[in-house]
Amino acid sequence: MKSSNVIRQRAAVSRPRRETLNGHMSINLWFTGLSGSGKSTLAHAVEERLHLMGCRTYVFDGDNVRHGLCGDLGFSIDDRSENMRRIAEMINLFLDAGVISLTAFISPLKTDREHVQEIIGADNLIEVYCNCPLEICEARDVKGLYKKARAGEIKNYTGISSPYEIPESPDIELNTGTRPLRECVNVIIDELRERGVILR
Ligand code: ADX
Repeated sequence: MKSSNVIRQRAAVSRPRRETLNGHMSINLWFTGLSGSGKSTLAHAVEERLHLMGCRTYVFDGDNVRHGLCGDLGFSIDDRSENMRRIAEMINLFLDAGVISLTAFISPLKTDREHVQEIIGADNLIEVYCNCPLEICEARDVKGLYKKARAGEIKNYTGISSPYEIPESPDIELNTGTRPLRECVNVIIDELRERGVILR
């Protein structure tokens, strides 16, 4: 921390009070996987279901956040780490705000994902590994970026010229290449119920 003489203010309206008002707990669903593995699609589909159930939610998507909050960051190892750190701090604020946040970032490195867990606290996070083979992600190539990466037009592209370290023990692993979206959503909603995050 660079700044000294900065003292935390305590709010009377606390996380537990907000959670009680909301009728659900706050948590973070951390989606990790290759570009094109379906992280954003799944995060938004889960959000839709939760929203219809009356839950307060917010999706942070890598591509969107990189237009604003993280607009100064590229895809070097250091920049990706800083991207994760900022998101983790943002999640902390949303946890305090009583919100169920859903984050869709490639988050390719184990050390960065561990750092996120340290910042947020393991109990506040459910890691969801969107396991989709590179061949399928590349065949989908929704944004045409794999093609560019193969042609050498994009440097450090995850899965092509930059590593993706597979999560060793994610809380949930889904085969997003083959499993229907609806089923994947159900798995996550069931997990939230099991943990008592949502009551219905
Ligand atoms: S992360 O590695 O720092 O977690 P993030 O999820 O924010 O990545 O952003 C990934 C998105 O940025 C991809 O879905 C893709 O659309 C775009 N992108 C642009 N350049 C790259 C790159 N070199 N590697 C990966 N994704 C890239």
